[in-house]
Amino acid sequence: MIILAIDTSCDETAAAVTQGNIVLSNVIWSQASLHAKFGGVMPSLAQRMHQERIDWVIKRALQQAKCKGKNVDRIAVTAGPGLAIALGVGITKAMELKSVWDKPSVAINHIEGHLLSPLAVRNTRSDFNLADVFPALGLVVSGGHTELVEIGRPGSYAILAKTQDDALGEALDKAARLLGLGYPGGAILEKMAKLGNPKEYPLPLPMARQERIDAFSYSGLKSAFMRLVSDVGNVAVGERPELTLQQIYDLAACFQNRAFQHLERVVAGQIKLANQEGKFKSLLVGGGVIANTDLKKRLRKIAKVNGLKLMLPYSKKLVGDNAAMIGVAAAISKHTPENTLIDRKPRWSVEDI
Ligand code: KG4
Ligand code: ZN
Repeated sequence: MIILAIDTSCDETAAAVTQGNIVLSNVIWSQASLHAKFGGVMPSLAQRMHQERIDWVIKRALQQAKCKGKNVDRIAVTAGPGLAIALGVGITKAMELKSVWDKPSVAINHIEGHLLSPLAVRNTRSDFNLADVFPALGLVVSGGHTELVEIGRPGSYAILAKTQDDALGEALDKAARLLGLGYPGGAILEKMAKLGNPKEYPLPLPMARQERIDAFSYSGLKSAFMRLVSDVGNVAVGERPELTLQQIYDLAACFQNRAFQHLERVVAGQIKLANQEGKFKSLLVGGGVIANTDLKKRLRKIAKVNGLKLMLPYSKKLVGDNAAMIGVAAAISKHTPENTLIDRKPRWSVEDI
């Protein structure tokens, strides 16, 4: 079955063509540079840019897959979670194509897309047996979400831990901004952190004195970092400090280290708890922050120690927001098409699929 998938949940206008879990094309037009001057995503700007770019992105996805509209069997579109007015653009386009092509459509959850993104493959040669993957532990680490999810099988999800405040990517972006590194800053923070000493300055480990493994929290770390940056730069909190390059490297390394240590503690805790019953076969990880080499290394170690297979998206384009993961989720999760119009669900939880 050939699926045309569309995602306009945040600031990437994305369309893809997939067949089962094989990615035939995956086209992404990022708006990140347009939102950078606002230090975050501006919903009305995102909506306008999606409207301007959606037709081009879909046309290109079909061209790259050497596929015509009439060969598409189904249209999959992200219905949530995400920015309501941004989601609306993709859904409206999906409904338009559904009626022009007379094809069924299916509403897909964006988090389910990230969770199943490691199951996407380039071609039939790289395919694998799904029975070897589930039950699995799924982790989504992006700019908007930090969720640890038990996946009994595709389509069946129970949230084991999620963030109480900021998402991991959001926290990294805020730390990067405090260091004057621009937005979104996760990737540049990683570059700086590689050159720094993670033990140079003291920073608290989030939720250190709590045994809880059912929540993440990054707001305390963010506040402590704000104070630390001011101390190191010798200015009042809120003022922009003049930092040396070495100070920036070390501060970046300290923040990233603590943020990842917190994630590791919760992930390892949940695996240990579940493995008393030998529950999980694999650890699936998706979302923009998994582009980070240090985080990959840490998760690889946790998976190895606990006898789990670590599965990551095969390409960088499947890591951040994209539509191929939406097409793959639509196929693997075996969602039944809807006859009615698809509604936006800006706060749609994976548990309510
Ligand atoms: O999945 P994504 O593209 O969009 C959302 O759904 O949010 O994730 C974007 C997030 C941003 O916070 C960005 O700073 C972070 O992923 N990110 C990284 C790296 N590359 C992107 N964080 C850490 N290290 C990276 N190399
Ligand atoms: Zn996302």
